Amino acid sequence: SDPALVARARAAKEALGDKVFVLGHHYQRDEVIQFADVTGDSFKLARDAAARPEAEYIVFCGVHFMAESADILTGPEQQVVLPDLAAGCSMADMARLAQVEDAWDALAEAGVADSVVPVTYMNSSADIKAFCGRHGGAVCTSSNAEVALEWAFGQKPDAKVLFLPDQHLGRNTAVLKMGMTLDDCVVWDPRRPNGGLTDEELRDARVILWKGHCSVHGRFSPAVVDELRETIPGVQILVHPECQHEVVLKADLVGSTEFIIKTIEAAPSGSSWAIGTELNLVKRLAAAHPDKHIAFLDKTVCYCSTMNRIDLPHLVWALESLVDGTVVNRIEVDPETEVQAKVALQRMLDLPG
Ligand code: 13P
Ligand code: SF4
Repeated sequence: SDPALVARARAAKEALGDKVFVLGHHYQRDEVIQFADVTGDSFKLARDAAARPEAEYIVFCGVHFMAESADILTGPEQQVVLPDLAAGCSMADMARLAQVEDAWDALAEAGVADSVVPVTYMNSSADIKAFCGRHGGAVCTSSNAEVALEWAFGQKPDAKVLFLPDQHLGRNTAVLKMGMTLDDCVVWDPRRPNGGLTDEELRDARVILWKGHCSVHGRFSPAVVDELRETIPGVQILVHPECQHEVVLKADLVGSTEFIIKTIEAAPSGSSWAIGTELNLVKRLAAAHPDKHIAFLDKTVCYCSTMNRIDLPHLVWALESLVDGTVVNRIEVDPETEVQAKVALQRMLDLPG
């Protein structure tokens, strides 16, 4: 990265001292991650943001929903900054509040809303988290989806879960971790009347999966897994649970980004891996572990384009603005949404484990 920009970022951070705390998601660019005070997956970063009450400014190098969660979990005088406001998440955008409220009305008409517990993946907007808070539900991340679903099923007799917005994480958790069948899961398509489902299908389902997906992880295919197994002897396939069910079924190990990192760190020298997650992280793991063979589970370049919006020029601009006393790109969740979303986030943070 540009040495002049590196020097400016370093100087701005030094000038701000303890007033600023920089969080970096594992999918961020190297040029940005070098300035993170802490790195993590979305669960770890939510906890880390909440554990920094002395920092006046939280600069979040990640995407919009993560910065919103940091704002919800930090004190009212702390200000959260997202260096580029265009760093959204296409999956989070797939569930809008009005659509989810329509679905809830349809569940009520089908006579099942009373038994439904909504659970939203962290990768959702603050108003979807608030919806879950209002309706007795919780947030989960890829690190704790199984525990969160167990919690949800324990909330009511004959409980059903409405899982938002990632159908793949929901299906992979229900079927591969909780022993349900594919027939226990139905997919609610917000673009179709009644989600494309009959009332009978809604009554029979145990998990109602929202039809959302990650545009990055959704690209990994089972055919490439087969191909890599043929070309790399002894390769182990390690994937994120946002991947399609057919890919996860063929993998050796599945887990959040934090799990992927720990697995590679603990792997013996000389072992071979093909990893199905965002490319910045896979490249960083390959560079950090030259004694292990680390391949990417796709033949095309596969960065998360919105994670990549946060680059060094944007980070320098955000930090230097803070030095000058100007808070740019503040992410501020409205107070009513914040209270309800915090209920759902707190239920997650209180889960065992
Ligand atoms: P985790 O950080 O929970 O592994 O999620 C991956 C992701 O896609 C974040 O946007
Ligand atoms: Fe959203 Fe997928 Fe990018 Fe994560 S990797 S921010 S889920 S689009």
